Amino acid sequence: MSNVTVIGAGYVGLTTATCLAHLGHTVTCVDIDEAKVGQLNNGQVPIHEARLPELLQDGLSKQVLKFVVGASQAVTASEFVFLCLPTPQGDDGRVDISAISTVIEEIREVIPPGSTIVNKSTTPVGTNASIQSSLQRDDVAVVSNPEFLREGVAVTDFLQPDRIVIGATDPEAAQRVISLYDSIDAPIVNVDPPSAETIKYATNSFLATKVSFVNALAAVCEAVGADIESVTRGLGADQRIGSRFLQPGPGWGGSCFPKDMQALVRMATDAGYQFDLLRAVIEANEQQFERIVAKAEQLIDGSLEGVNVTLLGLTFKAHTDDLRNSPAIEIANLLIAKGAKLTAYDPMVESPAGLPEEINLVRTTEQAVARSDLTLILTEWPEFTRANWGALRDSMTVPRVLDARNALDRSAMVELGFQYDDLGRT
Ligand SMILES: NC(=O)c1ccc[n+]([C@@H]2O[C@H](COP(=O)([O-])OP(=O)(O)OC[C@H]3O[C@@H](n4cnc5c(N)ncnc54)[C@H](O)[C@@H]3O)[C@@H](O)[C@H]2O)c1
Repeated sequence: MSNVTVIGAGYVGLTTATCLAHLGHTVTCVDIDEAKVGQLNNGQVPIHEARLPELLQDGLSKQVLKFVVGASQAVTASEFVFLCLPTPQGDDGRVDISAISTVIEEIREVIPPGSTIVNKSTTPVGTNASIQSSLQRDDVAVVSNPEFLREGVAVTDFLQPDRIVIGATDPEAAQRVISLYDSIDAPIVNVDPPSAETIKYATNSFLATKVSFVNALAAVCEAVGADIESVTRGLGADQRIGSRFLQPGPGWGGSCFPKDMQALVRMATDAGYQFDLLRAVIEANEQQFERIVAKAEQLIDGSLEGVNVTLLGLTFKAHTDDLRNSPAIEIANLLIAKGAKLTAYDPMVESPAGLPEEINLVRTTEQAVARSDLTLILTEWPEFTRANWGALRDSMTVPRVLDARNALDRSAMVELGFQYDDLGRT
C-alpha cells in the first residue's frame, strides 16, 4: 500500500482521494480552499455525490485520509502525487493549465526522489511532457491517468471503471501507477502520454456527438412522424452503436463536455487539422437550446413576453448539484431575453448563487408550478417523474408542460388534460 497525495479536492480529487483510501492507501488530499478543507476534515462533503459521505467518514475514522492546505508540505513523504486540478477554457480558447503549473512550481523542489506525479486533470496533448520538463527532475516520473467518472455516480465509476488509461514514457512508472489499482477489476489501456491525453478528449467528444445526433434525430422524428423511443430502441440494439447516450434532451453541458469539445477543436486547429465535424456538433448543441425555446413558443402559440414559465431542474443532469454550463441555464437566459418571467425549482439547488438574477428560485415543485403558464422539465430528476401531476395541474394557470427530457408518460399527461410536448415522441 502506498502514500499518496491528491492535489485538488473537487469532484475528481475528492473522489480519487476517498476511493484510494478505500482501496487501502494512505492519502493526504490538498486544496487551496481552507473552508473546504475544514469541512472535509469534519466529515462534511461539500458536493452531492452518492457514496462519498460514507467513504469519507470511513477514511477519516481509520486515519488513512486527511485534508490539508499547502501542497509543498503534503508531498514530502509521498510516493505518488495526483493532480486533480481545474483546467478551464482560457480566454484565447485554449485550455488554461495554470493551476497545474502553479502546483508543479510549488512542489518541484520538495517532491521526493523516486516519486511519481499522476495527472488526472483533463489536459491537452503535450501537457505530460511539459510537466516533466518544467519539473527539471530526472528522478521524478510523470504519468498521465485521465479520469472518466460521471458526476452523480463518481465513486462507482472510480471503483468499477470501464477501463484505466495509463500514459507513460517510463514503463516502470506505468507499472507503479497500475499497481495502485491492483484491487480494481478493469482493463488497463497502457499507452504513450499523447495517446492517453487524446483518449480523454476523444471520449467526451464522441459522447457529446452521440447526444447531439440523437437530439437531431428527435427533430427528424417530429418532422416525419416517427417515434424517437422506437427509433432509439432499434438503433441501440445494434451492438456497434449501443443503447446508452441515446436519450434526447435539452442539449449537453456540464463542467467537461463543452470545454473538452472546444479544446479538441482548438488542439486540432493548432496542429493543422480543421475538425469541422466537432464544430458542427458544438453548433448543433447551441441550436438545441434555441429549439427548446422555439418549442415553448409553439406550445403557448405566441410570444413569451410576460409569460410565467416554470423551470423544473437546473443542474446539467440529475443526481448532481453541478450547475456549470448547464443547458437549463442556457435555456433560462434565452427565455429571459424573450421576456418570460421565470420561477425555478431543483432538488439540489438551494441558493440562487450562479443563477441569472431574474430567476425566482423556490423550494418545492408545488411552489414552482403554482400560477404557471408553461412548465419546462429541464433535468430528469426522479422527483419530477414521480410527482402527482394531476394535483400539480390544478394549481397551474394553464396546464402546459414542455418535457425537454422525455421524462414523463406522454399519454398519461395528455389524459390528465395537459397541453404537452416533448422531443420526438408520438
Ligand atoms: N467533474 C467531472 O465530472 C470530471 C470528470 C473527469 C475529468 N475531469 C477533469 O478533472 C479536473 C478537475 O475537475 P473537477 O470537476 O474535479 O474540478 P473542481 O473545480 O470540482 O475541483 C478543483 C479543485 O482544485 C482546487 N484547486 C485549485 N487550484 C489549486 C491549487 N493551486 N492547489 C490545490 N488545490 C487547488 C479547487 O479549490 C477545487 O477544490 C479537470 O481537468 C476536469 O476537466 C472532471
